[in-house]
Amino acid sequence: MKSFKPAAWVLPQPVLIIGTYDKNGKPNAMNAAWGGQWDMHEIFISLGSHATTDNLAINPEFTVAFATSETMVAADYVGIVSGRKVADKMARAGWTIEKAPDINAPVFKELPMTLECRVSRIIDESEDGCYLIGEVVGILCDEKYLAADGKPDMEKMQLITFDPIHHTYIELGKTVGRAFSDGKQLA
Ligand SMILES: Cc1cc2nc3c(=O)[nH]c(=O)nc-3n(C[C@H](O)[C@H](O)[C@H](O)COP(=O)(O)O)c2cc1C
Repeated sequence: MKSFKPAAWVLPQPVLIIGTYDKNGKPNAMNAAWGGQWDMHEIFISLGSHATTDNLAINPEFTVAFATSETMVAADYVGIVSGRKVADKMARAGWTIEKAPDINAPVFKELPMTLECRVSRIIDESEDGCYLIGEVVGILCDEKYLAADGKPDMEKMQLITFDPIHHTYIELGKTVGRAFSDGKQLA
């Protein structure tokens, strides 16, 4: 095996799109790979200092959506440009924006599935950022991405994952097995 120095190489990493409103109700989005499920009802995100963190300090509600092949260019764009500097960031991203039904945060309609979140805890806050824990208070999914059982269908969404090794985005593929089940073959 080839050996490498320590790096932020957990694989695969999500492409989370965090949506917030500023103090005037203007929407913003940013891209985050360093986040995931914290516990049954909470998620976590490792956040630097951004327009998003400015917004969350005023209005502690946010959406988290998952980027797709179709939305990849705009998803990358919102990860390289700050709402602190670019006033028309969201117009350039080109997404259709609606207020979430249950919280004061924007939904980007081109993204298939969105978590409605409320900040529940902020850990190790400094001028460089923080670890954000958010309670998931609702989940929205565009009906065209539902499976036959009425639940969101990941296979239909063409979600992308961030490759932290080569700095690329990779589209997720097909279902290959059943969790908590296929392993029983070896029991
Ligand atoms: C692929 C990718 C992953 C990123 N992951 C994170 C992350 O996990 N945490 C973070 O704070 N910033 C992350 N960023 C950087 C922010 O998205 C970026 O600084 C953005 O411009 C912040 O926007 P804002 O200032 O409008 O909130 C990532 C950017 C890209 C392109």
